[in-house]
Amino acid sequence: MTTTPARPALSLADLPVASDREAAWQALLDQGPLVDVDGAVFVVGNKAVDVVLHDPATYSSRLAFGVVGSPVPMVPIAFDPPEHMRYRKLLAPFFSPVVVGRMYESLREQLRALITPLAEAGRCDVVRDLAVPFPSQVFLTLLGLPLSDTERLVRWKDAVLAAAGPAGASEGQQAEALELFTYLGEKIEQRRGQPGEDLLTVLVNDTSAEAMSQEELLGLGFLMVLAGLDTVTATLGFAFELLARDADLRGRLAQDLTLVPGFVEELVRLNPVATFTPRVTTQDTVLEGRDLPAGTRVVMVWAAANRDPDRYEDGTAVQLDRDEAHWGFGGGIHRCLGSHLARAELRLVLEEWLTQVPDFALQPGTTPVLPWPAGLLGFPSVELTYGGART
Ligand code: HEM
Repeated sequence: MTTTPARPALSLADLPVASDREAAWQALLDQGPLVDVDGAVFVVGNKAVDVVLHDPATYSSRLAFGVVGSPVPMVPIAFDPPEHMRYRKLLAPFFSPVVVGRMYESLREQLRALITPLAEAGRCDVVRDLAVPFPSQVFLTLLGLPLSDTERLVRWKDAVLAAAGPAGASEGQQAEALELFTYLGEKIEQRRGQPGEDLLTVLVNDTSAEAMSQEELLGLGFLMVLAGLDTVTATLGFAFELLARDADLRGRLAQDLTLVPGFVEELVRLNPVATFTPRVTTQDTVLEGRDLPAGTRVVMVWAAANRDPDRYEDGTAVQLDRDEAHWGFGGGIHRCLGSHLARAELRLVLEEWLTQVPDFALQPGTTPVLPWPAGLLGFPSVELTYGGART
């Protein structure tokens, strides 16, 4: 018979994530591979994460994500096989490396337009001024929507994220989240019968048996807002905070931009911003020698698994030539659909920024602070100073 380890349960609030992330992830690994946290089973060991991700029949996403505050089911994350497969087949062509590669030049131009005035200003809040607007612009570009909607999208995105968060949305935010649905619904209607290569136009005009319904398209739009904007924003926040503090790393990257993709991988490995990813067991099962009854909430902690000494040598260090894979974009059938796009965004931002602003530091007197506990980990603000304006 299997055993249930008798460990004291932890609370998220006990983890020192805001003050010392390394200590927090290490504390979980020390108790791993499974740790009881706030009534859920946290999966922190690399091998256990691997098992969960590759057994979607036992570890269900539908049961885990079906309840998040969306008025329509979130496509494709809230589905299990076989439905999930249909969505991935429809969506995969829009997120392939080749298709993402075709967006490069347009995105680079948009970035130059964002970064040049910031570079001239000599200081900025790089989260507010660059890391927030750029992913929203990418979303609009992908869907073939006007960039002039960026500000509205950012507002709606905040409302949608609040609605999906533990505290829920205020009345004003609920109204704003609904505005996003109205907006997407209108755009879907406008695209019917229209020519175009963008994701929205192609999906709306799909006449195959596999075509998505209006409700499914809205669910997809909702998930993309939830999954594809603040994730990139937060990862960029970690990048700039780290580079502002680490002159050696900053200098190496600025001198040799071919090192940027290796840095991006390490960034996502060490700071996987979609911090906790849930599943719910569909049947009684055993994981790492522990009985898990049907209905158990199981939560993957990528940041811990990505440092697991069983897999990574010197796992807490940034090594630009490390070639092991990691779980920062998840794994198995729900592996991040937008990973190529996210990598491209991160890479482009860093390349353009380091070209225009190779040297920078945190604005004296400011310290980026991580709100904690949080579902999505990220600095709300990273103030930088550079060039003539540095004090
Ligand atoms: C650095 C940025 C990003 C990170 C760290 C990230 C991380 C993740 C992770 C860990 C998952 C797996 C969730 C699970 O297993 O339940 C995921 C799924 C997903 N991500 Fe990302 N993501 C990022 C950017 C993006 C972008 C830019 C998009 C799209 C525009 C996107 C779209 C999605 C979608 C649609 C899924 C669900 C896939 C499925 O259920 O089959 N993500 N992401």
